[in-house]
Amino acid sequence: MEFIGESPSVRTLRERLKAVATTPLPVLLIGETGTGKEVAARVLHDQSGRTGAFVPVDCAAISPTLVESELFGHERGAFTGADRRRDGLIAAARGGTFFLDEVAELPLDVQTRLLRLLQEGTFRPVGGQAQQEADIRVVAATWKDLTQEVAEGRFRRDLYHRLGVVELRLPALRDRPEDVPILLDHFLQQECSRIGRRVPRLDPAVRAHLKRWPWPGNVRELRNVAHYVAALAQGARVGIEGLPPQLRGPVPDLPGLSGGEGDAPPLRTDLPYLEARRMWLDAFQLRYVEQLLAEHDGNISRAARAAEMDRRSIQRILQRLKDLATET
Ligand SMILES: Nc1ncnc2c1ncn2[C@@H]1O[C@H](COP(=O)(O)OP(=O)(O)O)[C@@H](O)[C@H]1O
Ligand SMILES: [Mg+2]
Repeated sequence: MEFIGESPSVRTLRERLKAVATTPLPVLLIGETGTGKEVAARVLHDQSGRTGAFVPVDCAAISPTLVESELFGHERGAFTGADRRRDGLIAAARGGTFFLDEVAELPLDVQTRLLRLLQEGTFRPVGGQAQQEADIRVVAATWKDLTQEVAEGRFRRDLYHRLGVVELRLPALRDRPEDVPILLDHFLQQECSRIGRRVPRLDPAVRAHLKRWPWPGNVRELRNVAHYVAALAQGARVGIEGLPPQLRGPVPDLPGLSGGEGDAPPLRTDLPYLEARRMWLDAFQLRYVEQLLAEHDGNISRAARAAEMDRRSIQRILQRLKDLATET
């Protein structure tokens, strides 16, 4: 498995993956959906020299009542219906890598068991007496802000610190547009050879269009586009009309730096009214100026005239936008 891309952020990520792969440290991968968290976890496993299996588990997909025995296994008679002992996924990952995807979804009591596993390297199946050796390497992934999950009592702080000894961030695709053509060619070639087609050539206009696309589904979305094009290309060249319908239109606005998802910032009724109002108005100011400037090609004087604002107010807000952008 290879983590494809030549942007500076991806090169750095590849170097870091390589550096930590051979250590026994747990790794926490943070990134939006489709940014390649599972690819990164497999790269870690492949380069680890560990001979056991790579065992992925989607913590969001197993039912909370079963998750404990799914992970840790159970002894015969541990609960109603446990008519024989069964190994869990952790046992399956012995000597290999255990990949906990969507780790923020783990129930708190399972988090406690996982912490003990990380601290002591041993675990106890449900209903069992003896601790067993684990010998697994743990890689976890999430897109949630775990510090916030900790602050709100949904994630154990000590587990977060354990898991996050090495925390690696996966950049969103829209933040590394130079990787779009590289990934596109890779997926097109792969898919065409799989379905036995000749690889079509994309018009330069199509490439430019796709480089500007904001890719909310990141590389997964791009891979789907490549599969669509590979399957439906008519002839050797592909123009805009050869793209999936939802990608043919103009490039939509990037989500605002300050706005988060949707049109409005979150309504913080957990804060005092005045403070919540200040946060809301701040967010409004930033988004207003951001969009205003975009509509006037970044020309502050024209934007100020059009909005009947003072140039200096715009500059001040702009400075805050920049500060915010470098903070994140
Ligand atoms: N850098 C990359 N190189 C190669 N394939 C990638 C890369 N990033 C993502 N992919 C592919 O995109 C899809 C989504 O990746 P995945 O690792 O499942 O994302 P995530 O777990 O972050 O949602 C998979 O098919 C994966 O193979
Ligand atoms: Mg995933």
